[in-house]
Amino acid sequence: MAQESDHAEVNRQSLQRDIWLPLLYTVKEKKTENRGIVTLTLAPSAEEAIEPMEPGQFNMLYAFGIGEIPISISSLWNLQSTLVHTIQDVGAVSKAFCDLSTGDQVGVRGPYGTRWPLNKAKNKDVIILAGGVGMVPLRPLIERILNDRSRYGKLNVLFGARSPENIIFHQDIISWQADPTLNFQITVDHAYSNWRGHVGVVTYLIEEANFDPENTIAFICGPEIMMRYAVHACLDANVPTDHIFLSIERNMKCATGFCGHCQYGPFFVCKDGAVFSYPQVKIYLNIAEL
Ligand SMILES: Cc1cc2nc3c(=O)[nH]c(=O)nc-3n(C[C@H](O)[C@H](O)[C@H](O)COP(=O)(O)OP(=O)(O)OC[C@H]3O[C@@H](n4cnc5c(N)ncnc54)[C@H](O)[C@@H]3O)c2cc1C
Ligand code: FES
Repeated sequence: MAQESDHAEVNRQSLQRDIWLPLLYTVKEKKTENRGIVTLTLAPSAEEAIEPMEPGQFNMLYAFGIGEIPISISSLWNLQSTLVHTIQDVGAVSKAFCDLSTGDQVGVRGPYGTRWPLNKAKNKDVIILAGGVGMVPLRPLIERILNDRSRYGKLNVLFGARSPENIIFHQDIISWQADPTLNFQITVDHAYSNWRGHVGVVTYLIEEANFDPENTIAFICGPEIMMRYAVHACLDANVPTDHIFLSIERNMKCATGFCGHCQYGPFFVCKDGAVFSYPQVKIYLNIAEL
């Protein structure tokens, strides 16, 4: 009898520690960022919540009966156990998340992955280069820097979107533009006649940014081709190779280094990344379609 209850206790504990078991979360708030992109605020449905997250990390979000996808944490501003995730509808599972309503339930397991190495940016200038929804994993990093502004040097946030209607985080953009402690610039690939901002690729904005290259850390996220050009623009501006960090995306299944779906050269993006230093991934980043 004692043996049976010992087994029950062991089973209960291993179930509690089951890294593949999603926790139940409820959609508390849904905000439409623009066509096909929503921001969901999720709160734990029971007492148990996932561990606190850091900028750059991601969760596996499960739409019941449809599937599970990796999604970065999108904001860590003043949050305790709630999670903020911004999701673009590109396929079946992401669409299911974009179609959710407040009160709906989802599964969450995580947090997974490496963080943006913010400690390396202490007392240094910072350049943040974002392309499209690549701004999502970078937004918590910007929040952290702004929350402890005196620890860092000049801050440049350079954001490229396909067109004005693809711009996300409008409220943040308004406050970043008004903030004298940062240089926020936005550019679009294709503009309308009423667009008064920059037109062209985001890498051109580096030329106008104010930073001391030798003493600068660059954080980059966007489509892979954009990241390739962004890295080269940083190198051309004399930012040291090992001062450049980027977040890589690959299809994922387990998110725990078990299944091999996210293999990237010798790395598993789910556990060795998604945030890598440029020297780590240099040879793989330069191979298109790897
Ligand atoms: C670490 C990580 C963090 C991510 N964070 C976010 C986020 O914060 N917000 C967000 O909207 N998306 C994010 N993504 C991408 C998101 O996971 C994919 O868009 C999603 O898995 C697509 O699944 P689906 O079933 O909706 O579409 P699918 O039918 O699987 O795919 C639709 C299209 O998207 C492509 N695709 C699928 N997954 C990926 C991927 N991982 N990378 C590149 N292309 C892909 C497919 O090749 C296909 O062309 C992240 C991905 C990773 C790896
Ligand atoms: S998703 Fe399974 S090893 Fe990375």
